[in-house]
Amino acid sequence: MVKVEKFIPKAIDRIKEQAKGKTIIALSGGVDSSVCAVLAYRAIGDDLIPIYIDTGLMRKGETKRIKEIFEDMNLQTIDAKDRFLKALVGIKDPEEKRKVVGETFIRVFEEEARIINAEYLIQGTIYPDRIESDGGIKSHHNVGGLPEHIDFKEIIEPIDDLYKDEVREVAWALDLPEEICERMPFPGPGLSVRIIGEVTEEKVDVVREANAIVEEELLEQFKPWQTFAAVIGKGTGVKGDVRVHGWIIAVRAVGSRDGMTAEALELPWETLRKIESRISGEIASVARVLYDLSPKPPATIEFE
Ligand code: XMP
Repeated sequence: MVKVEKFIPKAIDRIKEQAKGKTIIALSGGVDSSVCAVLAYRAIGDDLIPIYIDTGLMRKGETKRIKEIFEDMNLQTIDAKDRFLKALVGIKDPEEKRKVVGETFIRVFEEEARIINAEYLIQGTIYPDRIESDGGIKSHHNVGGLPEHIDFKEIIEPIDDLYKDEVREVAWALDLPEEICERMPFPGPGLSVRIIGEVTEEKVDVVREANAIVEEELLEQFKPWQTFAAVIGKGTGVKGDVRVHGWIIAVRAVGSRDGMTAEALELPWETLRKIESRISGEIASVARVLYDLSPKPPATIEFE
């Protein structure tokens, strides 16, 4: 286990030695990039320019909260929603989807880096990211997805030896708010991997609302390692005496130690019923709600 009181000053010193000019980081609001941003801010102050890209694939209210939490920093927020949606038109294959989101992200990030004239890049890579990507399980877009068209003087990875629970410990010690320290993992490609098939604005809106309901109902009470909703297709339903072809939502809630394996939580029936009734009641276009029982393996945690 990492010794937090030793790790923090050492990490700050290392960043000070490495980053000698304008430095950027893609700040997603996840615990990894948030910890890196705070370490770097303490090391180099306003020479750090965190860039938050609103891909339109973020969870409900996320962009607003990031702006509030990191308001002291020189944060640049970029609204790239339309660009991501456009890039995703017609893409159905999961790996291609990840690639498109990853590439669009890098291009937007590169453009911003160029405007800023950044010389150094900080990345929030952690130890398990490296293992999974090396094993070729899925392409994770925060690993290997480096801006290719910019010659940074150095790429700095302050937490690449840490496991997730160690990063959380560091986050607490850095006085980050609980919602960041205990934040569930959220995939780089965002809500796009919680949509089976093509990503459309309508599906993103539906999955975002469903995610918010699932989080409200499960996070505090059951403390799952990860929980979310996915749009998995369309099916026939009856709403107000009329047959509809509505969205099918799958609810996922898993326990895990590090995301490498996972098991579905045994949720009480009444909790599942409440989630079903809220999702079908509050989102007019939803006709059916399912609970995913699959462990990892054979399923992955995300749907794509
Ligand atoms: P899977 O779905 O492969 O996910 O069982 C394991 C954990 O990793 C998260 N995940 C990602 N994180 N970029 C990330 O930073 C990605 O592309 C990505 N894909 C999956 C997932 O949410 C889970 O916690």
